[in-house]
Amino acid sequence: MPLVVIVGLGWGDEGKGKIVDCMSEGASVVARFSGGANAGHTVHAGDMKLVLHQLPTGLLREGVTGIIGAGCVIDPVSLREEALLLEKLGVAAWQRLQVSPHAHLVHPCYRLEERADEESRGAAAIGTTLRGIGPAYVRKYGRRGLRVEDALRSRDFAEKSMAILSGFGSEAASSLRADVERFVEDSCAVASKAADISSMILRALAEGRLVLAEGAQGTLLDPDAGTYPYVTSGSCVSGAACSSLGIGPSRIDEVVGVVKAYATRVGSGPFPTELEGPLAEHIRRRGNEYGATTGRPRRCGWFDGPLSAYASRTNGCHWLAITLLDVLGGIDILKLSNGFDGSAPAFPLLGEGLSSLKPVYEDMQGWPEEIGGIRSWEELPEAARNYVIRVEALSGAPVRLVSTGPDRSEVIWRRS
Ligand code: IMP
Repeated sequence: MPLVVIVGLGWGDEGKGKIVDCMSEGASVVARFSGGANAGHTVHAGDMKLVLHQLPTGLLREGVTGIIGAGCVIDPVSLREEALLLEKLGVAAWQRLQVSPHAHLVHPCYRLEERADEESRGAAAIGTTLRGIGPAYVRKYGRRGLRVEDALRSRDFAEKSMAILSGFGSEAASSLRADVERFVEDSCAVASKAADISSMILRALAEGRLVLAEGAQGTLLDPDAGTYPYVTSGSCVSGAACSSLGIGPSRIDEVVGVVKAYATRVGSGPFPTELEGPLAEHIRRRGNEYGATTGRPRRCGWFDGPLSAYASRTNGCHWLAITLLDVLGGIDILKLSNGFDGSAPAFPLLGEGLSSLKPVYEDMQGWPEEIGGIRSWEELPEAARNYVIRVEALSGAPVRLVSTGPDRSEVIWRRS
């Protein structure tokens, strides 16, 4: 059985949670390899709607071992709360969780630091989730971070954590003291989950079991591949699965790119195909395009062919899963961007230069029907099939999975 890496091709919120949940049936291990509590992976199962922020989505399936990789930054307090919530629903999440000792921990003061940093940027603020993600990665790469393994030496760890608090001045020291004490306690609990995750994954593969590596955010939010500086701070591309999980690139069998049938982004930064007005509102309402972590309304726009192709090749996608196709139902004419006006740039412009590019659109016929209940490719309206085929051509990788609604049962596997 293979090792499959699943990544988002846009600015996050592509519906990776649903695709990972769907593919994790029969998996032995599901490992999150990036991000932290900034992510919000939503799964609808029957009447239940669950939003996972830090736990690997695959944990919802009985018998799956969940792993959090070294490339993640862990907020131990919210991780324990999330696990507790699942325990109450009868999912033995904490019991089946293992963590890399090398993952970094998000100290409560990092949120303060992030808020101040965002304020200092004024109109150029990134629009982060304010979960302390940026400061945690800054400390990691500045070689001043707190790692899970540090919490194994609890006394030293408590001293270090309190020293960080003292650095934020006397007001913070009194208002955040209880939070830091809880942080220390929960970090120690997380440290009890530390394991040699690389060996675990390799063992599962040697036994012929299915292992999924679950990304967070999306390629266009990656600090190297994305729309810098309007990006997150953890790596979102398939290659990052290797360093985070301790597996070589030669062990990856398949890379799956999750692409939305249209485009969305939360926070600031260039968005060439962005829509405004009633059509954007229509898509936002039908797609429930509000942040799963922050509740912020997401910016909505047309499918962007050049950016999708760029993201697909950056990840080396073998195939794609297209999500939220049902949301486009009822729009007469759909537009897809297939290039940029003027001469092609010599290299992908993803920084401020992207804002100056004007997309070129082609029109496609929409479909009036609701497609949620449809379970086979052949039964989809012809216009919806044509749309998927066009997304596939513009992205440069075959679409094998079509998601037609929020529930885990609302998927169509395309065999041909
Ligand atoms: P941070 O990850 O909180 O530092 O935020 C940096 C940028 O990434 C902001 O524009 C956020 O809105 C965006 N972002 C972070 N996590 C997600 C996510 O899970 N989905 C969509 N956008 C995200």
